[in-house]
Amino acid sequence: MKLKIALLPGDGIGPEVITQAVSCLQAVEDIFGHQFIFAEAPVGATAMDNGGNPLPADTLALCKRSDAVLFGAIGDPKYDNDPAAKVRPEQGLLKLRKELELFSNIRPVQVFPTLIENSPLRKEIINGTDFVIFRELTGGIYFGEKKRSEDGRTASDLCIYSEEEISRIAHLAFKAAKGRRKKLTLVDKANVLESSRLWRSVVTKIAESYPEVTLNYLFVDNAAMQLILNPSQFDVILTENMFGDILSDEGSVIGGSIGLLPSASVGEKYAMFEPIHGSFPEGAGKNIANPIAAILSVAMLLDHFGLKEETNAVIKAVNRSLKDGIVTPDLNAKSKYGTDDVGHFIASQITDAEDYRGLN
Ligand code: IPM
Ligand code: MN
Repeated sequence: MKLKIALLPGDGIGPEVITQAVSCLQAVEDIFGHQFIFAEAPVGATAMDNGGNPLPADTLALCKRSDAVLFGAIGDPKYDNDPAAKVRPEQGLLKLRKELELFSNIRPVQVFPTLIENSPLRKEIINGTDFVIFRELTGGIYFGEKKRSEDGRTASDLCIYSEEEISRIAHLAFKAAKGRRKKLTLVDKANVLESSRLWRSVVTKIAESYPEVTLNYLFVDNAAMQLILNPSQFDVILTENMFGDILSDEGSVIGGSIGLLPSASVGEKYAMFEPIHGSFPEGAGKNIANPIAAILSVAMLLDHFGLKEETNAVIKAVNRSLKDGIVTPDLNAKSKYGTDDVGHFIASQITDAEDYRGLN
């Protein structure tokens, strides 16, 4: 398969983890005989430092003529503490999501058996955790009208959803549930918010077309609690933009490190893949960032294009590094391995994929 892949490494540790993700893609290319054409462009604070725009027009144009986007991370502390700042690095990511109409953000959360002791939660609680969050990504309070009164002392952000915005992601979530354990939990705040009541009615109606999937509902406050009390009860979680943002960070600690979790953001035309962690500016340039979330984002990219064997080869290679303890210090404080060691090891295991492909 021939794929044009736009690389947007972004800020902080983004470039380091994307370098390793690309070397894994190159290993897949060699072993399985594909052709991946890479082109890189700036985004976020890195782009702002050279021209002020967190999403330059050329970067957006590159994404639009690519088959997929591989994104690193965004954010720089020098822009965080200035409430008057008109432009922020994060706007680059938000605009990209909107322009590419990436309405569905898919964030899987799994506990790797070899890392069960790394979790802040007891292993009896997290055993068997395997769920995926479908977070709506281009609507809700993130994109509703923002207002500030003339005297500057009152502000509002509008949370707005249309039936169409809810139903397109709901269908994707139900289809995913059909292929998994057939359970879908809609997370909302329908006891308070009108927009949540619309979500409930639209999703309840759509559920009739997926009779094999059991639909249940949770208020977001209770969902936050249930994720910690009993995470293995979840299969597919469907929710709006901001609730999904918050719950996915919460979910990410269950497995022991936010450095492990990948994500896909998909729409009708475009698809983007990125680790869910941030730019970790304190770690930038130190060769300590965990590249696994970026590498598993590559696995999601391959899966998106139907390349199942290739996806499995990457996942197996990641599991090998976890089993053999070739991990960064976030997973083992005594580890002597850096971002590049872990990335090279995983890429080399993909190269060996043929040796173990037939074994299980
Ligand atoms: C995420 C991030 C972004 C979000 C920020 C950087 C705008 O937290 O991808 O979860 O809030 O969506
Ligand atoms: Mn977030």
